[in-house]
Amino acid sequence: MQRTPEPAELMDDHEQARAYASANFSEANELFADLLHQLGHGDISGCALDLGCGPADIPLALLRQYPQLRIDALDGAPAMLDIAQKRCDADPELGQRLKLLCQTLPTTELAQDGYDAILSNSLLHHLADPSDLWLTVKHCAGDNTAILIMDLARPASPLAVDSLVETYAMNEPEVLREDFRNSLHAAYTVEEIEQQLAQHGLRELEVSMVSDRHWAARGSYRPNN
Ligand SMILES: C[S@@+](CC[C@H](N)C(=O)[O-])C[C@H]1O[C@@H](n2cnc3c(N)ncnc32)[C@H](O)[C@@H]1O
Repeated sequence: MQRTPEPAELMDDHEQARAYASANFSEANELFADLLHQLGHGDISGCALDLGCGPADIPLALLRQYPQLRIDALDGAPAMLDIAQKRCDADPELGQRLKLLCQTLPTTELAQDGYDAILSNSLLHHLADPSDLWLTVKHCAGDNTAILIMDLARPASPLAVDSLVETYAMNEPEVLREDFRNSLHAAYTVEEIEQQLAQHGLRELEVSMVSDRHWAARGSYRPNN
């Protein structure tokens, strides 16, 4: 099936952001946390960068799990960051280890070589140009930075898209079902991710399917590849 880009990059509509923030993504979020645990052998500390953080479910869960971790969480949508800020305010101990950055990729404002881990879930398929993510990863990573990028994988046919929407979003509001359908149509396949990694000299990242609808690219950054 041909890829169809998302209608908009940012999720800056308040209704859309509220619906997204109230949906239950616990299965995907736990999968992401498990993959990070494996990647860091259970020892994640220092400062991580989360790209396209949305309402900050994943960074807040990781801060709970790793008391030595700080996270800079970036999103270009103020509607999402307003929700993330309320969640920080509700838990000041976590909130003081989470810095929210309202920035849109591509950006030149992030620290070079500045992060111990670079994370992103469900951002890449939103971007008009996937290089915006991979160039940011390369800019912000130093030697040995742990990298975990996860996203939806594009199914083989519209029928397979409908089947995933029915399986995972049957009882969700229509705005979310539509988001999920658009995301599956806009997502990349594992083969396309392999090509993107090769194009950007990120061959040290291994990409594979990690569920029936997600791929993950993970590994430790090597600057001279
Ligand atoms: C599907 S949400 C994922 C949110 C979160 N990572 C999660 O796993 O729940 C994608 C997020 O990426 C943000 N986004 C899309 N394009 C972006 C860009 N170019 N720069 C920064 N954020 C972007 C959207 O505003 C949205 O909040």
